[in-house]
Amino acid sequence: MKTAIYPGSFDPVTNGHLDIIKRAARMFDKLIVVVLINPLKNYSFTIPERVSLLSKATAMLPNIEIDSYDGLLADYFKERPEIDVIVKGLRATSDFEYEFQMAHTNKDLNPRAETVFIPASANTTFISSSMVKQVAMFGGDLSKYVPSEIHGEISAKLTAEFAEKKRRAQLLKNK
Ligand code: COA
Repeated sequence: MKTAIYPGSFDPVTNGHLDIIKRAARMFDKLIVVVLINPLKNYSFTIPERVSLLSKATAMLPNIEIDSYDGLLADYFKERPEIDVIVKGLRATSDFEYEFQMAHTNKDLNPRAETVFIPASANTTFISSSMVKQVAMFGGDLSKYVPSEIHGEISAKLTAEFAEKKRRAQLLKNK
């Protein structure tokens, strides 16, 4: 039995991530999708919210487990000896340098942690979580970028976040 892990921030999960998840789920017996923290990023969704969105978006796939972890990916890999390989998506050559660095760092921290890359499908190469967040904050149509089961939830959260940001900016202006 071959088990892979697909790590990411998933803030929020997009159709681009789902493309990689579906294809990796066909290649491996089990795929663990794990929400991790990049300490250099500011997140809009809490970890339980990101886990819940991922669970809803992948409910139709039988061999998926969703998890979260607040440590190094290399340590998660150590804690779960059944995991064989890390899967990452590559959207363009611009992803390559960052992903290459992460793959080497993970292997350096844990020599068992090998990474394989799956090229993103052509129709998802321009999608990112930040782009989805911007479209949602300005009330744009998310239906092509995020799974249909969750676009209402994503829009509601980000519209509220943006309204709060604008309210705070207004308060500062009036000081
Ligand atoms: N389709 C669409 N978008 C994709 C995508 C795909 N196939 N693959 C990646 N992306 C987007 C994401 O939406 C995200 O967009 P954003 O920057 O607008 O938010 C961006 O590409 C980067 O995604 P991700 O791979 O999740 O990188 P990240 O920097 O957000 O998170 C972690 C990387 C969480 C996996 C990494 O920081 C980590 O392993 N953290 C744990 C601590 C650790 O071990 N650190 C050392 C690792 S070197």
